[in-house]
Amino acid sequence: MKDIILTGDRPTGKLHLGHYIGSLKSRVELQNKYKQYVMVADVQALTDNADNPQKVRDNIIELLLDYLSVGIDPNKTTICIQSMIPAIAELTIFYLNLVSVSRLERNPTIKQELKMRNFSGGIPAGFLTYPVSQAADITAFQANFVPAGEDQAPMIEQTCEIVRRFNTYYGETLKEPKIILSKTPRLVGTDGKSKMSKSLRNKIYLADSPDDIEKKVMSMFTDPNHLNVNDPGNTKDNPVFIYLDAFGEDKEKIAAMKAHYERGGLGDVKVKKYLNEVLQGFLEPIRIKREALQKDLKAIYKIAFDGTKEANIVTADTLKNVKKAMRINYQDM
Ligand code: TRP
Repeated sequence: MKDIILTGDRPTGKLHLGHYIGSLKSRVELQNKYKQYVMVADVQALTDNADNPQKVRDNIIELLLDYLSVGIDPNKTTICIQSMIPAIAELTIFYLNLVSVSRLERNPTIKQELKMRNFSGGIPAGFLTYPVSQAADITAFQANFVPAGEDQAPMIEQTCEIVRRFNTYYGETLKEPKIILSKTPRLVGTDGKSKMSKSLRNKIYLADSPDDIEKKVMSMFTDPNHLNVNDPGNTKDNPVFIYLDAFGEDKEKIAAMKAHYERGGLGDVKVKKYLNEVLQGFLEPIRIKREALQKDLKAIYKIAFDGTKEANIVTADTLKNVKKAMRINYQDM
């Protein structure tokens, strides 16, 4: 039997180049080797968007379109929607007894996210405990592997702790997942300052128009010390070259451009024009596919609903085993 992979995204915005490099690209490859589930984590998205369910709803279709347009293939990958999988909610309730409040408060990702959000009415209990819900996501599918970025490592760690405690209390039932860390470091934003995060205005979306792409590329941050064309320039922390490395196919040409830039004599505008060419070439087929898919949204939702049906079968099976191990399977006794 193939190893099982589960990944997911919160539907809170359209996906961008950072997502492509960090996760979508590897999902397109992994779907050929593994049994892959990709989950639209709408329940998790609601933990900090409780006042705005419409935002979550609107972004579900965007996420699905992004998945399909980059080549996640519903014949190979099962795409499903978290809120339509009741076993996950039930598992979460049982797992909540296996973790302490102080342990949740120590989760580095939660701490980091709390700093970035300003929950005016206090921290929602659902937000503090979403790592438990994520443990339910992962174990419900009996996933062996979770491909993710560094920021998700604490979630996997917490999942393993819950699994170990469960197995200690109730007998060997669940398996500990392993993270497959994304090989590529986070893609910097077009402003060079920070990761390409959904909350900052420094990203190029997969669905951007050719005009938007050009505008964003031409206003990209480069080497601030490269004032004159003839000055030697830095290519290492230079977002334009970082993007060329990530998306350019002509490695020889890029190496020659880097050498020229470092020597001096290559202007930023020329490099940006080339990057624009590269990104237009990369994003055009994705956009064309997206536009075609967009013509029949019902068919897109159906893919997710069909995937969810399949997800409900495997996760219900896990729930059954969990209840049996906990000896709360009263009807079977
Ligand atoms: N926490 C993940 C994120 O913020 C999304 C997510 C939810 C997830 N459930 C998951 C990722 C299960 C991997 C596995 O991106």
